[in-house]
Amino acid sequence: MSVAMAIQFRPMQPSDLGAVYAIETAAYLFPWTQGNFTDCLETGYRCEVMLESGVVVGYSILAIMVDEAHILNCCVAPSSQGRGLGRQMMQHLINRLPQMRLPSLLLEVRPSNTAAIHLYADLGFLEIGRRRSYYPAPAEAGGREDALVMRYTAGSAAVSA
Ligand SMILES: CC(C)(COP(=O)(O)OP(=O)(O)OC[C@H]1O[C@@H](n2cnc3c(N)ncnc32)[C@H](O)[C@@H]1OP(=O)(O)O)[C@@H](O)C(=O)NCCC(=O)NCCS
Repeated sequence: MSVAMAIQFRPMQPSDLGAVYAIETAAYLFPWTQGNFTDCLETGYRCEVMLESGVVVGYSILAIMVDEAHILNCCVAPSSQGRGLGRQMMQHLINRLPQMRLPSLLLEVRPSNTAAIHLYADLGFLEIGRRRSYYPAPAEAGGREDALVMRYTAGSAAVSA
């Protein structure tokens, strides 16, 4: 898998919302609304975009709890997936834990999302639970899907620079 070049991260701005929402609707069968992203910005969640050569190719939304950062959304544009960008974005979040003085990262993921689960497990996330019928799903798949809850604990895996 090729390593992407010229990747930068910066806080999400309201002017990014068009690009972010376009990626969201292309990447998810059940996307967030544009209002969900606006709410996250207004609430003060840690919203970041990932830029490749200045173009938004992904984003992450973190809610900071007392002793944990909860990843509410992380996404790479479908046209940019499979090139190491998701790994780079997740590693960036992991690397920032000490700066945020937080020991762990929490997330939910669909059991059907094998690409994401492989990535998280490879980075050292462990499955710690399951939320029943957490996500919407197509009617033919039963209308709901569970969520796996996964946690990364600092010091539990090698952290690259
Ligand atoms: C999940 C996601 C962020 C991964 O980003 P990506 O840029 O495609 O992933 P990368 O290219 O960095 O690959 C990282 C790892 O993911 C796994 N992976 C990626 N694509 C995969 C696939 N098609 N099948 C299985 N594993 C896959 C592999 O373990 C890969 O490791 P490798 O580098 O050793 O091959 C991206 O697919 C995405 O945004 N999906 C839509 C939104 C989403 O599901 N977000 C997660 C919600 S919990």
